[in-house]
Amino acid sequence: MCGIVGYIGAKPAAPILIEGLKRLEYRGYDSAGIAVLNGVLTVFKQKGKVSDLEQALPKTLDAAIGIGHTRWATHGIPNDINAHPHTSSAGDIALIHNGIIENYAAIRTELQRKGHTFKGETDTEVLVHLIEEIWKEVECDFETAVRLALKEVVGAYGICVISSREPDKIIVARNGSPLLIGIGEGEYFIGSDASPIVSHTRKVVYLSEGEVAIITRDGYTVKTIENIELPKQIDELTFGIAEIEKGGFEHFMLKEIFEQPDAILNSMRGRVLLEEGSIKLGGIRDHIETLRNAKRIIICACGTSWHSGLVGEYLIEDLARIPVEVEYASEFRYRNPIIGKDDVVLVISQSGETADTLAALREARARGAVALGICNVVGSTIARETDCGIYTHAGPEIGVASTKAFTAQVTVLALLALALGRRRTLSDAEAKTFANELYNLPNKVRRILDQNDAIVKLAEIFKDAKNFLYLGRGYNFPVALEGALKLKEISYIHAEGYPAAEMKHGPIALIDENMPVVFIATRDNSYHKIISNIEEVRSRKGRVIAIATEGDAEIERLAEFVIRVPETLPPLVPILTAIPLQLLAYHIAVMRGCNVDQPRNLAKSVTVE
Ligand code: G6P
Repeated sequence: MCGIVGYIGAKPAAPILIEGLKRLEYRGYDSAGIAVLNGVLTVFKQKGKVSDLEQALPKTLDAAIGIGHTRWATHGIPNDINAHPHTSSAGDIALIHNGIIENYAAIRTELQRKGHTFKGETDTEVLVHLIEEIWKEVECDFETAVRLALKEVVGAYGICVISSREPDKIIVARNGSPLLIGIGEGEYFIGSDASPIVSHTRKVVYLSEGEVAIITRDGYTVKTIENIELPKQIDELTFGIAEIEKGGFEHFMLKEIFEQPDAILNSMRGRVLLEEGSIKLGGIRDHIETLRNAKRIIICACGTSWHSGLVGEYLIEDLARIPVEVEYASEFRYRNPIIGKDDVVLVISQSGETADTLAALREARARGAVALGICNVVGSTIARETDCGIYTHAGPEIGVASTKAFTAQVTVLALLALALGRRRTLSDAEAKTFANELYNLPNKVRRILDQNDAIVKLAEIFKDAKNFLYLGRGYNFPVALEGALKLKEISYIHAEGYPAAEMKHGPIALIDENMPVVFIATRDNSYHKIISNIEEVRSRKGRVIAIATEGDAEIERLAEFVIRVPETLPPLVPILTAIPLQLLAYHIAVMRGCNVDQPRNLAKSVTVE
């Protein structure tokens, strides 16, 4: 959600913080701020983009310690006052925070009674005053005051805090919101993810839940809130700076759409044994028998990952004949689900940090289920808390609207379905055909990307539409949902995805000459049914755009516009059909002047419930 950056070393902190905030801006972008420490504590913060904050900073800022934050508002509107960092009454402690302090109202009332006044409406401001109050009441050092304050807090946090009273340190703590420390030479970096760190160092320490770190120029100590020192492993980041830059593309989203041939290939590299038609997935090796014998697989996810979960349901039931249910993580965790010991819970998350998905995972494990994860971010909380897992190797995804993560997730789900299917019902010949077809996908994706110019023209025609309907059947039904979600997220056009046959039970009432209807109508066993649905739309004057298989002549007669995808096996079709819909949404959004990479009100990683 919000982004955190910190620096302690010998260099000027402000440029490092601003560069880090720009890299983090995809996580939150309604306001930003920094606090720097050079004997005195100085805070600069304001509503708006990081570039606005940068403009407002003095040309030189002589401080080598600082913290910075880019915000996605939860409590309190986005304005200058509610922007982080927040400071204590005396102005000598500054704090930034990701997450939500749930008992902030009670703490605030108590602190007001003790004479504290609050400037804004955020939950975060309460925490900095609480630290100040404890430091006043208890004879202790800064670190102890922070730890004692955190003991009183209920909720999720990733915090960074500095004070002019103990000016040579940064204290950070994590409970529910990720934080990592980058290790340089005589300097340390802090990030809520690796993006503000990777241009400086690849050596990192991931903080775990309930940990506090005290960082000085000479080193760092990690402890529990109870003050017990912990040994920490140093990890190596798996990606470099080039992967988090736009590389000549106008937007991250476009770059990520065009990266899909590689993302798909990287997600299956070394995992598919073509000759045997078998699949090697090291991350689930120790649990493969449990998975194979699962009575049921329950998939929990949010957003786009939930859509790939729907494709996963079709894939696993189709290829491995194991019953699958797909749940919104947010519903699963609160509805007292029935989970047996033979059930496997599969959580899917690009970021590996989505609060509801994480909570669903914890709930499932607490009830005895084996948990399998599919994540993109290496070392993320979900990846670390699952019993076994498969990484998608899509590379960092910065655009808020998920694209390459989706196709990489579906690729990995296809590998999983094939691995399980091989151990259950699939014949050698079927498995080989499937494995070979998987390997052909990156080239087929390239052929779709080559049609970008045609999709630009289509976007031009429909950019002013008020509504869109996306319809698909079978494997293309989740793609219809995903196509509609992409358009909604970035262009703010209302769009709905529906199973094509369900159209008759409601959406058909909306169809008139102003309604574009995108049919995902590739050649499979329901093709003729979907052709009938197209006729139904046409006879009500709806404008039909079809995503159809190369060489399908019949569709030309019915659809006003056709975008072609190469032929593949029906279970793999979503990896192809999703792509023109991503491009269509992208170009429409650009033509409407929308901020594609940072759409209003959204966040890349939703770490609050
Ligand atoms: C947010 C993002 C979506 C994403 C969803 C789930 O809503 O804007 O793009 O699909 O979270 O995120 P996850 O990281 O768990 O896949």
